[in-house]
Amino acid sequence: MAFDPLQERGIPLDEQVRDWRELNVTPIDPDHADPYTRCRIITMNGIETEAISFSHQLARHCPDTELKQQLACIRYLEAQQQKAVNWLLPGLASVLETTIAYEQVAVDLTSWVARMEPDPYLRQAYEFGVLEDFDHLYRYANLYEMIEHRKAEKIVDRLTEVMPGRPTYLHHRDPVDNVREPYDRTRTEPLSRLHALTIMAAEQQTMNFYMNVGPMYMEPIARRLYQEIGLIEEEHVTHYESLVDPGESWWEMLLNHEYNECYLYYSFMETESDPKVKNIWELHLGMELEHLRLAAELFKRFDGRDPDQVLAAALPPPVTFEPNKAYVRDLLSTQIDCTTLGTGYVREAHERFSKMQEAIMGGEQPPSERVIDDNRAISGQDYRFEVEAAVSR
Ligand SMILES: [Fe+2]
Ligand SMILES: [Fe+2]
Ligand SMILES: [Fe+2]
Ligand SMILES: [Fe+2]
Repeated sequence: MAFDPLQERGIPLDEQVRDWRELNVTPIDPDHADPYTRCRIITMNGIETEAISFSHQLARHCPDTELKQQLACIRYLEAQQQKAVNWLLPGLASVLETTIAYEQVAVDLTSWVARMEPDPYLRQAYEFGVLEDFDHLYRYANLYEMIEHRKAEKIVDRLTEVMPGRPTYLHHRDPVDNVREPYDRTRTEPLSRLHALTIMAAEQQTMNFYMNVGPMYMEPIARRLYQEIGLIEEEHVTHYESLVDPGESWWEMLLNHEYNECYLYYSFMETESDPKVKNIWELHLGMELEHLRLAAELFKRFDGRDPDQVLAAALPPPVTFEPNKAYVRDLLSTQIDCTTLGTGYVREAHERFSKMQEAIMGGEQPPSERVIDDNRAISGQDYRFEVEAAVSR
């Protein structure tokens, strides 16, 4: 039976506030949890963080006190959801371990989205980006071996490979070339809107994370690598956010946000292996259904349109965390030398790209190359975890 969130009953708003006991969730087991459970937690934290900041932006543009009060009520519930979700992470992980998990999310979530995306231009944007986060994973994994003397395969657990992608130093493009063309809100498939929102939120949380945790390290190479990759995540946010049609009204955007929350909680409820975590996804889905109903009312009232005109008739197939090793290898063999020019893609280093490269490198080796050389000097070789090597081309 297809699940249509607009037809389902949610939890009434006045029953959604949780007390301290309910908010005090039991974190996942740091040693035995499914790495993809951790990926789902990180994804939903990004989605809830986006729900909160989007609602704040909307409120700051909203002159009607009564509406602002309604937004504040729902936003408070989103904030409680964010706490419940992110507090599922056990405190044991180091910043660098969490970083490696963030890049695993970027690789396997973006790969899934690219594989499912119906629009070829949008698909290209995801395929382009995934090879960069794949390389970030490799750089951080080398930093991890060097300063924490541990191996990233313990974190990604053979589900995601660790090896060079498009080299990180080549991600520093002129900001002009990071802006893509948006989808057309009047013609796009509803799934494309959801994809763009999801990846935008995930990249935004990664950017915010690196810009805040980077200076917590004392090791100069760690501080510098976070600075470098933090700047690339800024490029990624620009790249993905520009896919969203800016012609959507505030109420249409709100509707899409709430619908996407329903979609992802439903997806993760369907695919979750940890029963306790699954209960949280189910509870939050119940809350989101009511947020969606209220957003749909606002959309009808202010946009004078029916939500069915912009939303899918039923939820698309669940977003699934699963290995994408062969898929990523395939992209590596065909798209590793791509860069962007204007809103399109090219294979040669053009003038604007070369100028930016010169300006940021300043004739020095970038931290992302340095970390590999340094680790080779200490460990005798760079760190990689290649699973498919024997079977793939
Ligand atoms: Fe939410
Ligand atoms: Fe990244
Ligand atoms: Fe990224
Ligand atoms: Fe919500």
